[in-house]
Amino acid sequence: MELEEIKAILKKYGQEHLLNHYENLDDAHKKELLKEIKNIDFELMHSLYQKTEKAEEKNQKDEITPIEYLDKYKLNDQYKYYEAIGKKEIKAGKLAVVTMAGGQGTRLGHDGPKGTYDIGLDSHKSLFELLCDGIKAEAKKYDVTIPWFIMTSKQNNEETIEFFKKNKFFGYQKDKNIFFFNQGELPMMDTEGKILIGEDGLIKLAADGHGGTYEALVKNGMTDKMKEMGIEWVFIAGVDNCLIKMVDPVLMGIAEDKKVTVACKSIVKANPKEKVGVFCKKNGKPNVIEYTEITEEMANATDENGELLYGESHILSNLFNITAIERMGANPLPYHLAYKKATYMDKDGNIIEPDSPNAYKFEAFLFDAFGEVDEMAVLRVKREEEFAPVKNADSAGVDCPRTARKLYQEFYHLD
Ligand code: UTP
Repeated sequence: MELEEIKAILKKYGQEHLLNHYENLDDAHKKELLKEIKNIDFELMHSLYQKTEKAEEKNQKDEITPIEYLDKYKLNDQYKYYEAIGKKEIKAGKLAVVTMAGGQGTRLGHDGPKGTYDIGLDSHKSLFELLCDGIKAEAKKYDVTIPWFIMTSKQNNEETIEFFKKNKFFGYQKDKNIFFFNQGELPMMDTEGKILIGEDGLIKLAADGHGGTYEALVKNGMTDKMKEMGIEWVFIAGVDNCLIKMVDPVLMGIAEDKKVTVACKSIVKANPKEKVGVFCKKNGKPNVIEYTEITEEMANATDENGELLYGESHILSNLFNITAIERMGANPLPYHLAYKKATYMDKDGNIIEPDSPNAYKFEAFLFDAFGEVDEMAVLRVKREEEFAPVKNADSAGVDCPRTARKLYQEFYHLD
């Protein structure tokens, strides 16, 4: 009966092929496949596919204006004032940190979760260990527990946890200090709008983007857990910036003092043409405008001090009050389209490993939720102190292990 109902749904959406290999699966996989199909929001997938045929919609009427920011190193007397407020909050155990480690890391091309990558320091520490070192040092400095929440995806969850076990959780206590949770997923589609079947005969699912973090934190009970622990502030960042400063009393002090529920760090654009998203206001609400969307005139515009009006780059280094996370997790975000390489099973049961992109992946972006709040604080920090991204393989020459290693070594005087 159940199978008949599912067949009817698949027929309605032209996805009957999902059961092509059903009979070849063992009982456990058959059950799993039916469960996965029942979980698919076919209406959503249908509308996402239709959008792939059009250029991403932009609302021409959106009014983009600059956002105010503070420069951490031009705060003068205010620096100590904010720092004192933030220190008090951190010492009271109100801060948790989240590492988003669910991405595929396709550009880096590492065989394994990105956090397990060794950027080539003499210590051969992985990105996860470098992050953990930072958290442990801050926890010690403030004599407090800073719980570390790590978001994984179904594809890399097991391998990530195994890596932590093998490394004895880097000496940071599991169960007390480290918590893993899974992000949401969406099926991948081919260019004809057919949902792909993976190597295992099940639905080819992919992580739903870093914008899925809010919903995943709420749905998996992480925000409730945080509240039980007395946490009020959550710093959320990626796994791939080895100079990330997750515990920043100045940032937290500004958020408290200005009574905002989101406070983000920025670095000034290296030049007007740099390919980064920048903070702005969209229709009066905080937002990030991508480099593909900004006009040349806007990118070059300066204020009376000669500073770029749209020069504050978003570096995925953001502090949220739990109330903001709950609000952001309750409302669906738009999905953006990525065209990626995906191994799949064809209609005859052959496993196809493409050499070039062949499938659509749908991702939500963290910053699309910023408009949920009326105001946020933006704090400009120094690039050489807080930004060493590991995005590409060394052959790309930028934002790669070699450049990140150099920045890390310079900052910590390891040369
Ligand atoms: P990126 O957008 O750089 O993506 O993620 P990526 O998956 O690491 O790399 P590419 O694009 O495939 O080469 C920025 C941060 O957001 C996390 C990543 O793990 C990284 O820390 N992320 C991204 C997730 O946790 N989940 C996602 O679905 C996407």
